[in-house]
Amino acid sequence: MHLKGKRAFIAGIGDDQGYGWAIAKALAEAGCEILVGTWTPILKIFTTSYESGKFDASRKLSDGRMMEISKIYALDASFDNPDEVPQDIRENKRYQAASGYTISEVAAQVEKDYGKIDFLVHSLANGPEVKKPLLETSRAGYLAALSASSYSFVSMIAHFGPMLSEGGAILSLTYIASERAVPGYGGGMSSAKAALESDTRTLAFEAGRKWAIRINTISAGPLRSRAARAIGFIDKMIDYSNANAPLQREMTSEDVGNAAVFLLSPAASAITGTTLYVDNGMHAMGVAVDSPALCSEPAHA
Ligand SMILES: NC(=O)c1ccc[n+]([C@@H]2O[C@H](COP(=O)([O-])OP(=O)(O)OC[C@H]3O[C@@H](n4cnc5c(N)ncnc54)[C@H](O)[C@@H]3O)[C@@H](O)[C@H]2O)c1
Repeated sequence: MHLKGKRAFIAGIGDDQGYGWAIAKALAEAGCEILVGTWTPILKIFTTSYESGKFDASRKLSDGRMMEISKIYALDASFDNPDEVPQDIRENKRYQAASGYTISEVAAQVEKDYGKIDFLVHSLANGPEVKKPLLETSRAGYLAALSASSYSFVSMIAHFGPMLSEGGAILSLTYIASERAVPGYGGGMSSAKAALESDTRTLAFEAGRKWAIRINTISAGPLRSRAARAIGFIDKMIDYSNANAPLQREMTSEDVGNAAVFLLSPAASAITGTTLYVDNGMHAMGVAVDSPALCSEPAHA
């Protein structure tokens, strides 16, 4: 893929472990310029770590170059405009140190700094009650999950859409819990991913007609990212996938990074409104072949 001269804004990078970082790196490999949106409360630690060389090993590209991030913006995707930010958050020390972190302000700043971008990546999610079963989730927790993880995608497209160049493309990250029950992925997060996937189709139509841009989502397999570790059962999900997926190999973030570059690039010029599974084929399975109930049966190769 040659994406020299292209520019991407990737929202949801807070370290070098998650899918957002891997997508940025794969885009940088292809020659794309990288802008990053980092959640406001972790902006300082991410920026300091990046500048002090903590991520240098993972910034190395295959030809020996380092991935450069042109600019890191503070972003809280739960807010569209400054007047929506509650006082306690506004007065929080880590928010006071930043400014212009709502979606409309970040979009305006990116436009002021660069004029146009070619790609927008939404690689963020947050559900304060994710560890609670849906049945025990409060209204506030459910709506917070939808606000941070789904509406944020709608709002980002509304605000960044006008500055996407012709042939531009947008991508988000989703999870199979949107369409199959995954115990442990609670707090309305499964609902948030279902909304994200449904919105991908509707937004692909609306933004396709309005700006001639493409919108897709990747349903990714389990990765030991910071967010996934916080949910608490990621190791079990990785073991489960290794035992039951068609491909018995552990997912890497590069698998998603490479698929993201394809979906964003002109190679996918007729692909929009789709959910692409990048999960070693796990979504295709109807039974768990390591289930004790199947133990006496041979797993057919
Ligand atoms: N890790 C997995 O197993 C997995 C599987 C499928 C899909 N995903 C999805 O991939 C995406 C990236 O997650 P990840 O697992 O790579 O973890 P990650 O921790 O690298 O990324 C999540 C990011 O979201 C940011 N964030 C949280 N709330 C925010 C807000 N209000 N505004 C701005 N940023 C905010 C966090 O700071 C973090 O940087 C998410 O959408 C996640 O649901 C992850």
